[in-house]
Amino acid sequence: MRPLFIAGNWKMNPGTSEAAVALAEAVKAGVGQETRVRVALCPPSVFLNAVDGVLENSPIGLGAQNMHWKADGAYTGELSGSMLVDAGCTHVILGHSERRHGMHETSQEVNEKLKAALAAKLIPIVCIGETLVEREAHKTDEVVGTQLEESLKGLTAEEMNGVVLAYEPVWAIGTGKTATPAQAQHVHAFIRSMLREIFGEATASRVIVQYGGSVKPENAADLLACPDIDGSLVGGASLKAADFLGIINAGLAVTAKGKA
Ligand code: 13P
Repeated sequence: MRPLFIAGNWKMNPGTSEAAVALAEAVKAGVGQETRVRVALCPPSVFLNAVDGVLENSPIGLGAQNMHWKADGAYTGELSGSMLVDAGCTHVILGHSERRHGMHETSQEVNEKLKAALAAKLIPIVCIGETLVEREAHKTDEVVGTQLEESLKGLTAEEMNGVVLAYEPVWAIGTGKTATPAQAQHVHAFIRSMLREIFGEATASRVIVQYGGSVKPENAADLLACPDIDGSLVGGASLKAADFLGIINAGLAVTAKGKA
């Protein structure tokens, strides 16, 4: 059985380190020593050190939202994997749609970053997902499949065991429109079938595939109960400790019941 993994992607929020520390403290207090559901917080990089300090003696992981593929050098404004590890990171989000679409990041770049993240011993959370136009043109599987193939190119099955995927339909991000559990499960099952084809059954059954896109305490349980949905990557609702803890509690309830 794959454990559920709930990660909060704070994006470019909150506005101050005090607010970041307060949010992390509230999540830490709510999670306590609970490990049946895995949890990580991904604050803006300037707050990583401060949040790492808060998360001491907590099972909650710490993730960055991006990194560069080079280990060092003249790359103004960029951060390397080893810098993130030095700041306390265990995870790093790669290829978020806001970077793919807003900053024109390609799957080839995501692939370079993924290899660098693994070399730095970070757990990458690789995001893939289709736009509304692509979904309406019935191209969801094609787009998701191509992003997956290109982003994961050259990885061995053993390396893939250390990677987390996040299916985030672009049309569901920050819009309040969540994919229905059936829509999400369909794509998650497709992703797992591709993993099976590329890396074999053992790896396909081990890789955690999160769902992201307007996940809230109210819809989390139905999504998390789907057989191929192994957690969530939460944006807006991760900025309120009570909502984020509500999603974690939904995950705990699903874990206690077992998947259907
Ligand atoms: P929302 O939960 O705000 O829709 O964002 C999802 C997301 O992009 C997480 O990475």
